[in-house]
Amino acid sequence: MTTLYQAHLTELTNRYEDALSHFNLDAIVLASGEKSYYFQDDHTHPFHAYSGAQQWLPFTLGAETYLIIKAGQKPTLVWPVRDDFWHAPNPVPAGDWQQHWNIVEAKKADKWFAELPEKTAWLGPQPMSFSTPCDGLKAYVDFSKAVKTPFEINAIKKANYRAAKGHIAAKHAFLDGMSELEIHLAFLQASQQHALQEPYAGIVGLDEHAAVLHYEYKAIERQTNSRTLLIDAGASEHGYASDITRTFVRHNDEFSALVDSLDKMEQSLCAKVLPGVEYRALHQDTLIGISTLLHEHKICSLSIEEQLEKRIPQVFFPHGLGHLLGLQVHDVGGHQADKAGNLSLPAEHAPFLRCTRTLEENMVVTIEPGLYFIPMLLEKMQAEIRNHGCDLSKIQQFMQYGGIRIEDNVVAKETASENLTREAFSKQETTNL
Ligand code: GLY
Ligand code: MN
Ligand code: MN
Repeated sequence: MTTLYQAHLTELTNRYEDALSHFNLDAIVLASGEKSYYFQDDHTHPFHAYSGAQQWLPFTLGAETYLIIKAGQKPTLVWPVRDDFWHAPNPVPAGDWQQHWNIVEAKKADKWFAELPEKTAWLGPQPMSFSTPCDGLKAYVDFSKAVKTPFEINAIKKANYRAAKGHIAAKHAFLDGMSELEIHLAFLQASQQHALQEPYAGIVGLDEHAAVLHYEYKAIERQTNSRTLLIDAGASEHGYASDITRTFVRHNDEFSALVDSLDKMEQSLCAKVLPGVEYRALHQDTLIGISTLLHEHKICSLSIEEQLEKRIPQVFFPHGLGHLLGLQVHDVGGHQADKAGNLSLPAEHAPFLRCTRTLEENMVVTIEPGLYFIPMLLEKMQAEIRNHGCDLSKIQQFMQYGGIRIEDNVVAKETASENLTREAFSKQETTNL
């Protein structure tokens, strides 16, 4: 029986053999990258392997690992043998995957690359002097990375499952009155990872902090009767990320009604993730949806058309609807129009909309509308937009809750979208989300 991994490897081999022939190459080397040091220090930055190399293997790649791809041959893995007494040994991981690879163990000083053919291109950090410059190769392979294989979708599904456990633990920690730091630790423990393994640094904001889009602190102090928790945090499965946001509230009030409305709107957007759909059109639908909520919840009295014309929705939703998701949280190729690397960056959405692709079957994207009460943007609105129609005293009330974001990871399937995040939460059964 063909495993998901074998089928994945066959698909990657086809993609790269096509690239080898398109660029008239004999080999492509993919490098995971090297560790880098803090300035004047002997500690290294956290390491993430280059996604082009990571994509080929079913376990998390470390530094200084190289793959050699040649047409008609098994791929070669050049594995860095670590022979020092400071670090744990790093044997080649066991498993069936080994049948499909030539494995070469190499010490740092070994000249494994001396044998490479002349027409070898290099992808990844540290281009080496022997490699032929190959303009366009990266864009060529990046474009097809947007369409995920079943092996990759399964990894993102597992990453969602672990992160959903973390989000539920975070919700309980919030309801128990914990601090931002304690909530983050509860998330990490339940999702079984330490902070450096997160696909991105988790965002944990209570109350007004929920209005800071990339709030980077974790307050140690507990806050009496916190009202809102916005948590944007994911997990990683051999490099594949989940990227999930939930907004939890303590009280049933006007703000929780707004959260419920945004949640409904978010789910209706997720249902539109289908092949052939322009992601940009979904972003436009979101702006309409936000203006509808502002009107229905009596935050803005202007009609939908007037709001759109005056860019009122952007005051409350100042970012893009989402992005491609994969080995990188903001996966590569989101702005590419084609394999040649031409870009599609319509001025009206630049620079915030990270995906302008037409959706294809098995693309995975995030859908993450938000509605925030951001002091800086509200002041700007009052200064610059005449007759904005907004109820400023109501907005003042809402500011103490910060804001809302709800983010799911969704696969475009042929007949219906598959919401990996909602599936992961419903499997947990302990949540009423
Ligand atoms: N967590 C980053 C993002 O949602 O795009
Ligand atoms: Mn996120
Ligand atoms: Mn995201």
